[in-house]
Amino acid sequence: MNKPKILLTRRWPEAAEVRLKELFDVCLNLDDQPLSTGQLQEALGQYDAVLPTVTDAFTAEVFNAEPLRTKILANFGVGYNHIDLEAAKARGITVTNTPDVLTDCTADIAFGLLLAVARRIGEGERIVRAGQWKGWRPNQMLGSKVTGKTLGIIGFGRIGQAMAKRAHFGFDMPVIYYTPHPPSPALCAQFGASPRDSIEAVLQEADFVSLHCPGSKANRHLINAERLALMKPSAYLINTARGDVVESEALVQALKNQTIAGAGLDVYEGEPNLHPDFLELNNAVLVPHFGSATTETRIAMAMRVIDNLIAFFNGEEPGDKVI
Ligand code: DGY
Repeated sequence: MNKPKILLTRRWPEAAEVRLKELFDVCLNLDDQPLSTGQLQEALGQYDAVLPTVTDAFTAEVFNAEPLRTKILANFGVGYNHIDLEAAKARGITVTNTPDVLTDCTADIAFGLLLAVARRIGEGERIVRAGQWKGWRPNQMLGSKVTGKTLGIIGFGRIGQAMAKRAHFGFDMPVIYYTPHPPSPALCAQFGASPRDSIEAVLQEADFVSLHCPGSKANRHLINAERLALMKPSAYLINTARGDVVESEALVQALKNQTIAGAGLDVYEGEPNLHPDFLELNNAVLVPHFGSATTETRIAMAMRVIDNLIAFFNGEEPGDKVI
């Protein structure tokens, strides 16, 4: 029997590409550039499976492709807001993702951003590299203490809980959270985390607010000017979820006017073309959507995609089936 034809839309770590090639008839995107709408449509006509990432916008328009050969989109990533699930379902296409394996690394980056913005690490590094450091002094670059401060988490799934664990065990931080789907009280008790009944309540009380909700139409601009105005002037916002969960213009204004103290951002509306004013703001720490970017995790994500494909082509239900 012929091996299923697979398109990898971006390059993967070598070990994972090798395993994929042993199992399937694989086409690589050698340039590693994001594919256009037209190229994604062509792919749906030519391959049994397409393995996309967050940079591939599988819109309703893309799913209008004719002819249609693809039976599964096995996404390399946990978030799937770049895939129009209704349109995929209407064309009979299965969608899978890669949960669990990136939880710790994403929480690490969220906590790293929290420390970096509170302790002005990005700013400090820029000063040293620019040769502008004139030596130690008591008032040099005072930031905010982290230990003991209250962490507010919006979205308390796997990554939100991993963030809570770091804050509770590592930094003695009281943790509060809002989530529409609360986990069991026993689980929350492990991290000393207590629920609040609204996003507003978390924003008003927290010294650090970390976003861990999924990207979706419903969560677009969840954090807008009105909600940013509820945060303390001494509070910081951390976003490792999806860029459009935060209204960029509103955040830029809050940072410029110092109605909040700072922000640590891994994701951006319209990335990689972020709002240009972020670049001018010293109270923002900016990193390039690399929450899951460790060798171990990226290989684990790829292996998870491969396991989903093996199950699917064996006629079984993939472990990480979204639809
Ligand atoms: C994820 O896994 O969702 C990362 O943000 C990359 O897509």
